[in-house]
Amino acid sequence: MDIGIDKINFFTSNLYVDMTELAIARNEDPDKYLIGIGQSKMAVIPPTQDIVTMGANAAESMLTDEDKEDIDLVIVGTESGIDNSKSAAAYIADLLGLRDDIRTFEIKQACYGATAALQMAKAQVTLNPDSKALIIGADIAKYGLNTPGEVTQGGGAVAMLVSANPKLLSFEGGSTYLSRNIMDFWRPLGHSEALVDGKYSSNVYLDFFNNVYSNYKDKTGFTIDNFEALLFHLPYTKMGLKALREAQKDADAKVSAKLAHRFEDSRLYNRQVGNLYTGSLYLSLLSLLENNDDLKSGDRLGLFSYGSGAQGEFFAMLLRKDYRKYLMNTTNEFLQKRTCISVEEYEKIYLKSLHYENNSELDLDMDDAQFVLTGIKENQRQYKNRI
Ligand code: HMG
Repeated sequence: MDIGIDKINFFTSNLYVDMTELAIARNEDPDKYLIGIGQSKMAVIPPTQDIVTMGANAAESMLTDEDKEDIDLVIVGTESGIDNSKSAAAYIADLLGLRDDIRTFEIKQACYGATAALQMAKAQVTLNPDSKALIIGADIAKYGLNTPGEVTQGGGAVAMLVSANPKLLSFEGGSTYLSRNIMDFWRPLGHSEALVDGKYSSNVYLDFFNNVYSNYKDKTGFTIDNFEALLFHLPYTKMGLKALREAQKDADAKVSAKLAHRFEDSRLYNRQVGNLYTGSLYLSLLSLLENNDDLKSGDRLGLFSYGSGAQGEFFAMLLRKDYRKYLMNTTNEFLQKRTCISVEEYEKIYLKSLHYENNSELDLDMDDAQFVLTGIKENQRQYKNRI
């Protein structure tokens, strides 16, 4: 029985800052951000959006009433939790109007969380082929104004529906993984912004990729020729390019060119959004699916998931028959419709979103999303469905 991703969709806020403008404001050469880091735009998340609203917004537009009836598991992978106890999945299931005889919970291991959730969903659907699982990776990446990490901020949510006989992609075989206790990036309790050893984190990422990718090839007998595309967690898109270059070391020129061309398709959306931590690899997957025109049914994609701290995993998925027919293909237009704000406006929104006041109401003027956070009353977050 084939199990995999039946539907996938993405949501981020309607605001972004242009990376050339940000570079000028920070006295950097714009090419450092555009080429050296590989980012063109950065999503700016207003206080009225959080992991709950972004997750619900990503899921709502892809789910039919029938899907909602079939879902019996909702897992949110995140490192931007809004509560130390209650899961974002409980809020999201309610906002989406799902059944209540289901399981809802949240899962954490830095950017790896959505992959852990996806693998759990695979196990759940294997045992219960009639059920469907809703997996959400949602985060807001914050390093602080005027820090080296600032250029790698961003945010958003990817929602995926996992089912038997999926329309888009099926899992192939198992994974290889690596877990090590490493201090490359972390966010202690009480900190709104991540702490990071940036250069070290980029080196560890590559070590983890080389380890799990090489073990995967040993385990399966595959070589680079067996993959039609390689997808990476993209904290900034140059990071994925560095990992691709590692993989290309044993590829001939033709295979290298093919993988490089498909990598460009896979980083188009991430370039315009920035890091969305848990959702990052899956936004890259969506970018490949919606922007590529030369992949075909049965082609094998290799996926590398990395979460600081650190956890790495490599696995493969196969494109399903006629998968293009089932893509929503709404992301390009959605990203084009956003509003570009100045660096000053971005800084104001950033500072405002660091602290939420209890018993406050938020200004919804800048946010046109269906699900929004309207404020906090008696320490309870107030969400609204505008439809
Ligand atoms: P930095 O020190 O500002 O940048 O920090 P740099 O000086 O290293 O320059 C970056 C690149 O731009 C270099 O290229 C320069 O040569 C190039 P590279 O050597 O890397 O190939 N450059 C230029 N290129 C063209 N024209 C120019 C120019 N000038 C310079 N004029 C750093 C960069 C990524 C370290 C920083 O932004 C940072 O700390 N980011 C946050 C950490 C991060 O994203 N780490 C990634 C791996 S860890 C991970 O993926 C997990 C994570 O997602 C969290 C989680 O799991 O939850 C972060």
